[in-house]
Amino acid sequence: MFYGVRMGCPSVLCASVILALCHWGVPSLASTYGERGSDLGMRVFQEVVRSRPQENVALSPHGVASVLGMLLPGADGETRRQILTALRYKKSGPYKMLKRLHKGLTTKSNQDMVLIANGLFSQEGVVLEEPFVSANTANFQCHSQSLDFSHTPAAAAAINDWVKNQTKGMISSVIEPDMLDPALTRLVMVNSIFFKGLWKSRFLPENTKLRNFNPSDGVMYKVPMMSQLSVFNIGHASTPQGLKYKVIELPYHGNSISMLIALPTEDNTPVSALLPHLNTSTLQGWTKLLTQRKVRLLLPKFSVEAEVDLESPLSAVGVGDMFRQNKANFKYLSSEPLYVSKALQKAKIQVNEDGTKASAATTAILLARSSPPWVIVDRPFIFLIRHSLTGTVLFMGQINKP
Ligand SMILES: *[C@@H]1O[C@H](CO)[C@@H](O)[C@H](O)[C@H]1NC(C)=O
Ligand SMILES: *[C@@H]1O[C@H](CO)[C@@H](O)[C@H](O)[C@H]1NC(C)=O
Repeated sequence: MFYGVRMGCPSVLCASVILALCHWGVPSLASTYGERGSDLGMRVFQEVVRSRPQENVALSPHGVASVLGMLLPGADGETRRQILTALRYKKSGPYKMLKRLHKGLTTKSNQDMVLIANGLFSQEGVVLEEPFVSANTANFQCHSQSLDFSHTPAAAAAINDWVKNQTKGMISSVIEPDMLDPALTRLVMVNSIFFKGLWKSRFLPENTKLRNFNPSDGVMYKVPMMSQLSVFNIGHASTPQGLKYKVIELPYHGNSISMLIALPTEDNTPVSALLPHLNTSTLQGWTKLLTQRKVRLLLPKFSVEAEVDLESPLSAVGVGDMFRQNKANFKYLSSEPLYVSKALQKAKIQVNEDGTKASAATTAILLARSSPPWVIVDRPFIFLIRHSLTGTVLFMGQINKP
Protein backbone atom coordinates (compact mmCIF):
# COMPACT_ATOMS: atom_id res chain seq x y z
CA MET A 1 0.00 0.00 0.00
CA PHE A 2 1.09 3.54 -0.34
CA TYR A 3 0.27 6.80 1.25
CA GLY A 4 0.22 10.03 -0.67
CA VAL A 5 1.51 12.85 1.40
CA ARG A 6 0.10 16.22 0.55
CA MET A 7 0.03 19.66 2.02
CA GLY A 8 -1.53 20.93 5.21
CA CYS A 9 -2.14 24.53 5.90
CA PRO A 10 -1.88 26.39 9.10
CA SER A 11 -2.25 30.04 9.04
CA VAL A 12 -1.08 32.24 11.74
CA LEU A 13 -1.52 35.76 12.29
CA CYS A 14 -0.65 38.32 14.75
CA ALA A 15 -0.68 41.99 15.38
CA SER A 16 1.04 43.93 18.07
CA VAL A 17 0.10 47.42 18.88
CA ILE A 18 1.65 50.09 20.91
CA LEU A 19 -0.25 53.18 21.78
CA ALA A 20 1.64 56.18 22.89
CA LEU A 21 0.32 59.05 24.91
CA CYS A 22 2.16 62.17 25.94
CA HIS A 23 5.62 61.41 27.39
CA TRP A 24 8.08 58.78 26.03
CA GLY A 25 11.77 56.88 24.95
CA VAL A 26 14.07 54.96 22.12
CA PRO A 27 14.96 51.55 20.47
CA SER A 28 18.12 49.96 18.87
CA LEU A 29 19.25 46.48 17.83
CA ALA A 30 22.37 44.29 17.59
CA SER A 31 23.83 41.14 16.00
CA THR A 32 21.89 37.89 15.56
CA TYR A 33 18.80 39.98 15.81
CA GLY A 34 16.44 37.12 15.10
CA GLU A 35 17.58 34.98 18.00
CA ARG A 36 18.07 37.75 20.52
CA GLY A 37 14.70 39.24 19.80
CA SER A 38 13.12 35.80 19.91
CA ASP A 39 14.70 35.09 23.29
CA LEU A 40 13.12 38.22 24.68
CA GLY A 41 9.80 37.32 23.09
CA MET A 42 9.99 33.82 24.56
CA ARG A 43 10.57 35.26 28.02
CA VAL A 44 7.56 37.48 27.48
CA PHE A 45 5.58 34.39 26.48
CA GLN A 46 6.58 32.68 29.72
CA GLU A 47 5.36 35.67 31.70
CA VAL A 48 2.07 35.58 29.83
CA VAL A 49 1.39 31.88 30.39
CA ARG A 50 2.28 32.18 34.05
CA SER A 51 -0.98 34.06 34.45
CA ARG A 52 -2.92 31.72 32.14
CA PRO A 53 -1.55 28.23 32.81
CA GLN A 54 -4.69 26.40 31.67
CA GLU A 55 -5.45 28.41 28.57
CA ASN A 56 -4.44 28.23 24.97
CA VAL A 57 -1.99 31.05 24.37
CA ALA A 58 -0.25 32.26 21.23
CA LEU A 59 2.27 35.03 20.82
CA SER A 60 4.76 36.19 18.25
CA PRO A 61 8.16 36.54 19.95
CA HIS A 62 9.45 38.19 16.81
CA GLY A 63 6.54 40.63 16.85
CA VAL A 64 7.34 41.69 20.40
CA ALA A 65 10.97 42.29 19.43
CA SER A 66 9.93 44.18 16.30
CA VAL A 67 7.79 46.63 18.20
CA LEU A 68 10.60 47.32 20.67
CA GLY A 69 12.93 47.64 17.70
CA MET A 70 10.67 50.28 16.22
CA LEU A 71 10.65 52.25 19.46
CA LEU A 72 14.39 52.06 20.00
CA PRO A 73 15.48 54.87 17.66
CA GLY A 74 13.13 57.17 19.54
CA ALA A 75 14.33 56.30 23.04
CA ASP A 76 17.01 57.79 25.23
CA GLY A 77 18.39 57.36 28.75
CA GLU A 78 17.09 54.57 30.97
CA THR A 79 14.19 53.81 28.64
CA ARG A 80 16.66 53.10 25.86
CA ARG A 81 18.95 51.14 28.16
CA GLN A 82 16.07 48.90 29.23
CA ILE A 83 15.14 48.07 25.65
CA LEU A 84 18.76 47.44 24.68
CA THR A 85 19.35 45.24 27.71
CA ALA A 86 16.20 43.22 27.14
CA LEU A 87 17.03 42.67 23.50
CA ARG A 88 20.71 42.14 24.36
CA TYR A 89 21.65 44.60 21.68
CA LYS A 90 24.80 46.60 21.56
CA LYS A 91 24.58 50.35 21.34
CA SER A 92 24.60 50.58 17.59
CA GLY A 93 24.45 48.68 14.38
CA PRO A 94 21.41 46.49 14.85
CA TYR A 95 19.53 47.76 11.86
CA LYS A 96 21.61 46.03 9.25
CA MET A 97 20.75 42.72 10.92
CA LEU A 98 17.15 43.62 11.19
CA LYS A 99 16.92 44.55 7.57
CA ARG A 100 18.58 41.29 6.56
CA LEU A 101 16.22 39.34 8.74
CA HIS A 102 13.14 40.97 7.29
CA LYS A 103 14.51 40.34 3.84
CA GLY A 104 15.17 36.69 4.66
CA LEU A 105 11.68 36.21 5.99
CA THR A 106 9.97 37.92 3.12
CA THR A 107 12.05 36.83 0.10
CA LYS A 108 10.19 35.94 -3.04
CA SER A 109 10.40 32.24 -2.36
CA ASN A 110 8.87 32.91 1.03
CA GLN A 111 6.44 35.57 0.04
CA ASP A 112 3.31 33.51 0.24
CA MET A 113 4.21 32.52 3.76
CA VAL A 114 5.33 35.47 5.84
CA LEU A 115 4.00 38.97 5.63
CA ILE A 116 5.30 41.41 8.19
CA ALA A 117 3.65 44.78 8.36
CA ASN A 118 4.54 47.68 10.58
CA GLY A 119 2.52 50.83 10.92
CA LEU A 120 3.04 54.13 12.65
CA PHE A 121 -0.08 56.20 13.19
CA SER A 122 0.47 59.67 14.56
CA GLN A 123 -1.80 62.48 15.60
CA GLU A 124 -2.34 65.02 12.85
CA GLY A 125 -0.16 68.00 13.65
CA VAL A 126 2.26 66.16 15.97
CA VAL A 127 5.72 66.35 14.52
CA LEU A 128 7.72 63.16 14.85
CA GLU A 129 11.47 63.47 14.70
CA GLU A 130 12.56 62.88 11.14
CA PRO A 131 15.42 60.42 11.96
CA PHE A 132 12.95 58.29 13.93
CA VAL A 133 10.52 58.10 11.05
CA SER A 134 13.21 57.45 8.45
CA ALA A 135 14.86 54.73 10.57
CA ASN A 136 11.52 52.96 10.81
CA THR A 137 10.72 53.42 7.16
CA ALA A 138 14.12 52.10 6.11
CA ASN A 139 14.34 49.19 8.52
CA PHE A 140 10.81 48.06 8.99
CA GLN A 141 9.24 49.18 5.71
CA CYS A 142 7.02 51.02 8.09
CA HIS A 143 3.76 52.49 6.88
CA SER A 144 3.17 55.99 8.28
CA GLN A 145 -0.13 57.74 8.43
CA SER A 146 -1.52 60.62 10.40
CA LEU A 147 -4.92 60.35 12.04
CA ASP A 148 -7.13 62.53 14.10
CA PHE A 149 -7.27 60.78 17.45
CA SER A 150 -9.82 63.25 18.77
CA HIS A 151 -12.35 61.20 16.79
CA THR A 152 -11.56 57.93 18.48
CA PRO A 153 -14.00 55.66 16.60
CA ALA A 154 -12.78 56.85 13.21
CA ALA A 155 -9.12 56.62 14.22
CA ALA A 156 -9.58 53.11 15.63
CA ALA A 157 -11.44 52.06 12.49
CA ALA A 158 -8.65 53.37 10.26
CA ILE A 159 -6.03 51.38 12.16
CA ASN A 160 -8.18 48.27 12.29
CA ASP A 161 -8.83 48.51 8.55
CA TRP A 162 -5.13 48.69 7.91
CA VAL A 163 -4.42 45.70 10.15
CA LYS A 164 -7.26 43.76 8.62
CA ASN A 165 -5.91 44.37 5.16
CA GLN A 166 -2.34 43.53 6.13
CA THR A 167 -3.43 40.32 7.81
CA LYS A 168 -5.61 39.30 4.90
CA GLY A 169 -8.71 39.60 7.03
CA MET A 170 -7.57 37.28 9.78
CA ILE A 171 -7.31 39.97 12.42
CA SER A 172 -10.12 42.38 11.92
CA SER A 173 -9.71 44.46 15.02
CA VAL A 174 -6.90 45.35 17.39
CA ILE A 175 -7.89 48.74 18.68
CA GLU A 176 -11.07 49.59 20.48
CA PRO A 177 -12.00 53.28 20.38
CA ASP A 178 -11.80 53.45 24.19
CA MET A 179 -8.11 52.52 24.08
CA LEU A 180 -7.50 55.88 22.46
CA ASP A 181 -7.58 59.12 24.38
CA PRO A 182 -9.05 61.94 22.30
CA ALA A 183 -6.85 64.51 24.01
CA LEU A 184 -3.62 62.63 24.67
CA THR A 185 -2.97 59.89 22.13
CA ARG A 186 -0.11 60.87 19.87
CA LEU A 187 1.18 57.70 18.34
CA VAL A 188 -0.02 54.17 17.76
CA MET A 189 2.46 51.59 16.56
CA VAL A 190 1.32 48.37 15.02
CA ASN A 191 3.30 45.33 14.04
CA SER A 192 1.45 42.54 12.38
CA ILE A 193 2.69 39.24 11.12
CA PHE A 194 0.70 37.09 8.82
CA PHE A 195 1.85 33.59 8.18
CA LYS A 196 0.21 31.01 6.04
CA GLY A 197 2.14 27.87 5.53
CA LEU A 198 1.40 24.77 3.61
CA TRP A 199 2.69 21.62 5.21
CA LYS A 200 5.40 20.11 3.14
CA SER A 201 3.70 16.85 3.85
CA ARG A 202 -0.02 17.28 3.94
CA PHE A 203 -2.59 15.54 6.07
CA LEU A 204 -5.44 13.94 4.16
CA PRO A 205 -8.77 15.27 5.43
CA GLU A 206 -10.34 11.82 5.20
CA ASN A 207 -7.83 10.58 7.77
CA THR A 208 -8.97 13.11 10.35
CA LYS A 209 -11.03 11.40 13.02
CA LEU A 210 -12.36 12.21 16.43
CA ARG A 211 -9.94 10.87 19.02
CA ASN A 212 -9.28 11.32 22.70
CA PHE A 213 -7.35 14.28 24.03
CA ASN A 214 -6.32 14.58 27.68
CA PRO A 215 -6.37 18.22 28.72
CA SER A 216 -4.46 19.35 31.78
CA ASP A 217 -7.65 19.51 33.85
CA GLY A 218 -7.99 15.77 33.39
CA VAL A 219 -11.39 15.45 31.72
CA MET A 220 -10.75 13.54 28.53
CA TYR A 221 -12.66 14.67 25.46
CA LYS A 222 -12.69 14.07 21.73
CA VAL A 223 -11.01 16.33 19.19
CA PRO A 224 -10.52 16.05 15.44
CA MET A 225 -7.11 14.46 15.09
CA MET A 226 -5.29 14.69 11.79
CA SER A 227 -3.23 11.68 10.89
CA GLN A 228 -0.54 10.81 8.43
CA LEU A 229 2.09 8.16 7.95
CA SER A 230 5.23 9.90 6.86
CA VAL A 231 8.85 10.59 7.58
CA PHE A 232 9.31 13.27 10.23
CA ASN A 233 12.22 14.62 12.20
CA ILE A 234 11.64 13.35 15.68
CA GLY A 235 13.80 13.43 18.76
CA HIS A 236 13.83 12.99 22.50
CA ALA A 237 15.06 15.79 24.68
CA SER A 238 15.08 16.48 28.37
CA THR A 239 15.21 19.50 30.62
CA PRO A 240 18.18 20.06 32.96
CA GLN A 241 15.93 18.53 35.67
CA GLY A 242 15.57 15.38 33.61
CA LEU A 243 11.98 15.83 32.44
CA LYS A 244 11.71 14.08 29.12
CA TYR A 245 9.83 15.34 26.10
CA LYS A 246 9.45 14.54 22.44
CA VAL A 247 10.19 17.02 19.71
CA ILE A 248 8.51 16.70 16.34
CA GLU A 249 9.34 18.90 13.38
CA LEU A 250 6.79 19.60 10.68
CA PRO A 251 8.36 21.58 7.86
CA TYR A 252 6.42 23.95 5.71
CA HIS A 253 6.42 23.84 1.97
CA GLY A 254 9.27 26.28 1.44
CA ASN A 255 11.61 24.35 3.78
CA SER A 256 12.79 27.51 5.53
CA ILE A 257 10.15 27.49 8.25
CA SER A 258 9.06 24.62 10.47
CA MET A 259 6.61 24.01 13.21
CA LEU A 260 8.26 22.38 16.19
CA ILE A 261 6.11 20.57 18.69
CA ALA A 262 7.30 19.79 22.20
CA LEU A 263 5.27 17.10 23.93
CA PRO A 264 6.04 15.90 27.46
CA THR A 265 6.78 12.16 27.45
CA GLU A 266 5.06 11.50 30.77
CA ASP A 267 1.34 12.21 31.06
CA ASN A 268 1.84 13.99 34.33
CA THR A 269 4.50 16.44 33.14
CA PRO A 270 2.73 19.74 32.50
CA VAL A 271 3.92 21.86 29.58
CA SER A 272 4.67 24.58 32.13
CA ALA A 273 7.58 22.43 33.29
CA LEU A 274 9.18 22.64 29.84
CA LEU A 275 8.59 26.31 29.15
CA PRO A 276 11.38 27.79 31.30
CA HIS A 277 13.91 25.83 29.26
CA LEU A 278 12.80 27.03 25.91
CA ASN A 279 15.15 29.55 24.41
CA THR A 280 16.84 29.86 21.06
CA SER A 281 19.85 27.80 22.12
CA THR A 282 17.60 24.98 23.30
CA LEU A 283 15.84 25.06 19.93
CA GLN A 284 19.18 25.09 18.15
CA GLY A 285 20.15 22.05 20.24
CA TRP A 286 17.03 20.19 19.10
CA THR A 287 18.19 20.26 15.50
CA LYS A 288 21.04 17.93 16.51
CA LEU A 289 18.73 15.53 18.34
CA LEU A 290 16.23 15.08 15.59
CA THR A 291 16.42 12.09 13.32
CA GLN A 292 14.25 11.10 10.42
CA ARG A 293 11.77 8.43 11.31
CA LYS A 294 8.78 7.02 9.64
CA VAL A 295 5.86 7.28 12.00
CA ARG A 296 2.15 7.70 12.02
CA LEU A 297 1.69 11.16 13.45
CA LEU A 298 -1.61 12.12 15.05
CA LEU A 299 -1.96 15.81 15.64
CA PRO A 300 -5.09 17.71 16.67
CA LYS A 301 -6.45 20.36 14.39
CA PHE A 302 -6.35 23.50 16.43
CA SER A 303 -6.91 27.16 16.33
CA VAL A 304 -6.05 29.70 18.94
CA GLU A 305 -6.76 33.38 19.13
CA ALA A 306 -5.14 35.30 21.92
CA GLU A 307 -4.83 38.91 22.84
CA VAL A 308 -1.98 39.81 25.09
CA ASP A 309 -1.45 43.06 26.92
CA LEU A 310 2.32 43.39 26.86
CA GLU A 311 2.70 45.95 29.62
CA SER A 312 2.97 43.64 32.60
CA PRO A 313 5.06 40.89 30.90
CA LEU A 314 7.41 43.49 29.42
CA SER A 315 7.71 45.21 32.79
CA ALA A 316 8.47 41.81 34.34
CA VAL A 317 11.41 41.30 31.96
CA GLY A 318 12.77 44.76 32.71
CA VAL A 319 11.18 46.96 30.06
CA GLY A 320 8.86 49.01 32.24
CA ASP A 321 9.88 52.63 32.09
CA MET A 322 8.39 53.22 28.66
CA PHE A 323 4.93 52.73 30.18
CA ARG A 324 5.42 55.28 32.96
CA GLN A 325 4.50 58.83 32.35
CA ASN A 326 7.14 60.17 34.73
CA LYS A 327 9.94 57.86 33.53
CA ALA A 328 9.55 57.27 29.81
CA ASN A 329 12.16 59.02 27.73
CA PHE A 330 11.40 59.15 24.03
CA LYS A 331 13.41 62.24 23.36
CA TYR A 332 14.27 61.25 19.79
CA LEU A 333 10.72 60.47 18.86
CA SER A 334 9.08 63.79 19.42
CA SER A 335 9.86 67.04 21.15
CA GLU A 336 6.68 66.56 23.09
CA PRO A 337 7.21 64.09 25.98
CA LEU A 338 5.51 60.77 25.28
CA TYR A 339 4.99 57.45 26.99
CA VAL A 340 3.51 54.15 25.85
CA SER A 341 -0.06 53.93 26.97
CA LYS A 342 -0.83 50.57 25.47
CA ALA A 343 1.12 47.69 24.00
CA LEU A 344 -1.03 44.90 22.68
CA GLN A 345 -0.45 41.89 20.59
CA LYS A 346 -3.12 39.84 18.98
CA ALA A 347 -2.29 36.50 17.47
CA LYS A 348 -4.45 34.01 15.70
CA ILE A 349 -3.30 30.63 14.57
CA GLN A 350 -5.11 27.94 12.69
CA VAL A 351 -3.65 24.57 12.04
CA ASN A 352 -5.42 22.13 9.81
CA GLU A 353 -4.83 19.69 7.01
CA ASP A 354 -5.83 21.94 4.12
CA GLY A 355 -3.52 22.94 1.36
CA THR A 356 -3.22 23.15 -2.33
CA LYS A 357 -2.96 20.16 -4.54
CA ALA A 358 -0.03 21.67 -6.38
CA SER A 359 2.38 19.64 -4.40
CA ALA A 360 3.31 16.82 -6.68
CA ALA A 361 6.96 17.38 -5.82
CA THR A 362 6.27 16.71 -2.21
CA THR A 363 4.33 13.55 -2.66
CA ALA A 364 6.05 10.71 -0.95
CA ILE A 365 5.31 7.12 -1.57
CA LEU A 366 5.91 4.98 1.42
CA LEU A 367 5.82 1.28 1.68
CA ALA A 368 4.42 0.23 4.99
CA ARG A 369 4.96 -3.45 5.53
CA SER A 370 5.41 -3.45 9.24
CA SER A 371 3.35 -1.12 11.26
CA PRO A 372 5.30 2.04 12.07
CA PRO A 373 5.33 3.63 15.52
CA TRP A 374 2.56 6.05 16.33
CA VAL A 375 3.27 9.46 17.70
CA ILE A 376 0.11 10.84 19.21
CA VAL A 377 -0.17 14.41 20.32
CA ASP A 378 -3.03 13.77 22.70
CA ARG A 379 -2.21 16.01 25.65
CA PRO A 380 -1.15 19.62 26.13
CA PHE A 381 1.79 20.63 23.98
CA ILE A 382 3.90 23.59 22.98
CA PHE A 383 4.40 24.68 19.39
CA LEU A 384 6.93 27.00 17.87
CA ILE A 385 7.05 28.31 14.33
CA ARG A 386 10.66 28.96 13.55
CA HIS A 387 12.66 30.33 10.65
CA SER A 388 15.51 27.84 10.47
CA LEU A 389 18.19 30.03 8.92
CA THR A 390 18.02 32.86 11.45
CA GLY A 391 16.58 30.99 14.43
CA THR A 392 13.80 33.58 14.56
CA VAL A 393 10.72 32.37 16.42
CA LEU A 394 7.79 33.83 14.54
CA PHE A 395 5.14 32.35 16.80
CA MET A 396 4.88 30.17 19.82
CA GLY A 397 2.00 28.85 21.79
CA GLN A 398 0.73 26.39 24.31
CA ILE A 399 -2.30 24.32 23.51
CA ASN A 400 -4.16 22.98 26.50
CA LYS A 401 -7.48 22.37 24.78
CA PRO A 402 -7.36 22.14 20.99
C1 LIG B 1 -4.47 46.48 1.12
O1 LIG B 1 -3.21 45.85 0.91
C2 LIG B 1 -2.82 45.79 -0.44
C3 LIG B 1 -1.55 44.96 -0.52
O2 LIG B 1 -0.66 45.27 0.50
C4 LIG B 1 -2.64 47.21 -0.97
O3 LIG B 1 -2.26 47.18 -2.34
C5 LIG B 1 -3.96 47.95 -0.81
O4 LIG B 1 -3.82 49.28 -1.21
C6 LIG B 1 -4.43 47.90 0.63
N1 LIG B 1 -5.75 48.49 0.75
C7 LIG B 1 -6.03 49.35 1.71
C8 LIG B 1 -7.44 49.82 1.74
O5 LIG B 1 -5.20 49.74 2.52
C1 LIG C 1 18.58 28.13 27.60
O1 LIG C 1 17.96 27.14 28.40
C2 LIG C 1 18.85 26.15 28.89
C3 LIG C 1 18.02 25.09 29.59
O2 LIG C 1 17.26 25.62 30.65
C4 LIG C 1 19.86 26.82 29.83
O3 LIG C 1 20.79 25.85 30.30
C5 LIG C 1 20.61 27.89 29.05
O4 LIG C 1 21.47 28.59 29.91
C6 LIG C 1 19.62 28.87 28.40
N1 LIG C 1 20.37 29.76 27.54
C7 LIG C 1 20.16 31.06 27.53
C8 LIG C 1 20.98 31.84 26.57
O5 LIG C 1 19.38 31.61 28.27
